[in-house]
Amino acid sequence: MTTNRWRMGFHLMPPTGWVNDPNGLCYFRGLYHVFHQYSPDWPNGSERGWGHATSPDLVHWTHHGMVIHQDIPEDANGAYSGSAYIVPGGGADGSDLLRLYYTGNVKEPGAHDYIYSGRQANEILIETTDGFDLGEKQVLLRNADYPDFCSCHVRDPKVWSQDGSLHMLLGARDMDDEGLALIMESQDGLSWTTASTVRPTSHFGFMWECPDRIALDGFEYLSFCPQGMAELPWANDLRDQSGYIPLPAAVKLIGCEHVNPALFRRWDFGFDFYAPQTFTDPQGRTILIGWMGLPEPPFDSAPDNLDWIHCLTVPRVLTRCEDGVVAMAPAPELEQLRGEQASFAHVDSAPAQTRTATLPAHRADIVVDGISGPFDLTLDGAARIAFADGELTLNFDDGAQGIGRGRQTRSVNVNALENLRVLVDNSALEIFANNGREAFSTRWFPTADQLDIAIQGTAEAARVWPMGDGMEGTY
Ligand code: FRU
Repeated sequence: MTTNRWRMGFHLMPPTGWVNDPNGLCYFRGLYHVFHQYSPDWPNGSERGWGHATSPDLVHWTHHGMVIHQDIPEDANGAYSGSAYIVPGGGADGSDLLRLYYTGNVKEPGAHDYIYSGRQANEILIETTDGFDLGEKQVLLRNADYPDFCSCHVRDPKVWSQDGSLHMLLGARDMDDEGLALIMESQDGLSWTTASTVRPTSHFGFMWECPDRIALDGFEYLSFCPQGMAELPWANDLRDQSGYIPLPAAVKLIGCEHVNPALFRRWDFGFDFYAPQTFTDPQGRTILIGWMGLPEPPFDSAPDNLDWIHCLTVPRVLTRCEDGVVAMAPAPELEQLRGEQASFAHVDSAPAQTRTATLPAHRADIVVDGISGPFDLTLDGAARIAFADGELTLNFDDGAQGIGRGRQTRSVNVNALENLRVLVDNSALEIFANNGREAFSTRWFPTADQLDIAIQGTAEAARVWPMGDGMEGTY
């Protein structure tokens, strides 16, 4: 089933099939480009490559289908994740050149564990001067080019320029099952040598996926997705986690050999978030987009035999809080999709301090400011965001078979709840608390036609807008 009530209107997704990690994020020649991991024939085919979408404004998207296929020996089992780097004036005619770096995954035939033997991780480059017409694939790095202590798991290149050199950050697993990041260095973006490694001061997962280097107000962060985390008390039994470690003042990632895992902070406290990537746009904003999914989810994301699964988060603008926490706010451009403001009203039969609003569809932007004390916001009587006793919780009341499709409870400790922003986009929900210091992303599968919103507690203002469809025409 392709079209139905659960498709998103402002969360990027392809027309059919499977989407995972955002790749190659950039602003190039007047358009935002979002590439993404894509298996268009899912649930039938297993091809994995890059899909492509563009937007003039981060709101209205056009999807261009699958553009990087697994079609050379060096990416025979998947054109895996990677990033974009723009070379100013790098094109033959002196125009800018867009470079896409990704990992070609190859599984060799034979009896292999595909960890310590049998897998190739090739870093591959594709160049384009217009963002659409993609050049020949150039294989830049093979297993033999990585340090000997690496297992066959090395992937997800993120490339940037700093201090007169180009740097490529790669996620890796070593032969002792320690997760780490490799940093390669280059002058021309074609020939790369190993420069350094970034390791945790004590074991922190067996593999790090999708590493990224973020700089905000002169402070640097290492973002990555450690695997092998299920045993940790905060991990909700999930192998795969996504977060960042702030580096001390004046320390650059390219000079940093060790990071302190005690400082790891999750990007998102909800059910469905992984593999984020950032880029800097022409306004100088650092924008993050994540995958609203997980590699091994214990809950359902494609009920009723859908022929599509997952989506990406909305673009989130990052800012550094004084204590080093990175806050995330939906790109303000999304406000273009707001319709006429609807109002919250008190219903006489409800307890004092309860206000409700009903919207005709499950597409809304809800903003609650000036909250004090215990507070809760409920959608369709089933998805509840509640703050009490120093804990902010997202809960699906109806358990495994209901609206949450196996998603039940997620929570994080906070000192207070000051404000809430909730984006409802059919089966995607993004919740931002305390100006985006805490975010919860989740899928849910509401069946009612109308969206019922109820809030309870003390707040200075509660506003809600119906939201339009930025994906119109794409599917
Ligand atoms: C993360 C990831 C990456 C890999 C890609 C393959 O979700 O496993 O490490 O490049 O997905 O689709």
